[in-house]
Amino acid sequence: MDLTLRVNGQIHSLNVSPERTLLDVLREELGLVGAREGCGVGMCGACTVLINDQPLSSCLLLAVQAQETEVTTIEGLASPEGLHPVQQAFIDHAAFQCAYCTPGFILAAVALLKQQPQPDEEAIRAYLAGN
Ligand code: FES
Repeated sequence: MDLTLRVNGQIHSLNVSPERTLLDVLREELGLVGAREGCGVGMCGACTVLINDQPLSSCLLLAVQAQETEVTTIEGLASPEGLHPVQQAFIDHAAFQCAYCTPGFILAAVALLKQQPQPDEEAIRAYLAGN
């Protein structure tokens, strides 16, 4: 089926099978490999992307469900001026660990800070529980 996705501010016209997940299309059709497949069933958060600024598991979304939304992947956070402050904070505080799930953590943190600019530790832990 024909599909139009807006990802990181760019419009992409694609032809994909209707059963393909957003995660697959991002990685395999658009080459955006920052979102990763861990569990594949919505439990680990490694595949987190932002849909209209809300963190969602792209392994659970069909690509077609992301039409008419703004999809943001980890590749879309940095600007020509530099890294997003949350990306820089992860570097500054050695928060990468093995880095497999880091893009999802960063995107979830970005979404949290957009909703709550001064979250307390309890709010942070609760918000990042899906990662
Ligand atoms: S791959 Fe684990 S939540 Fe999507």
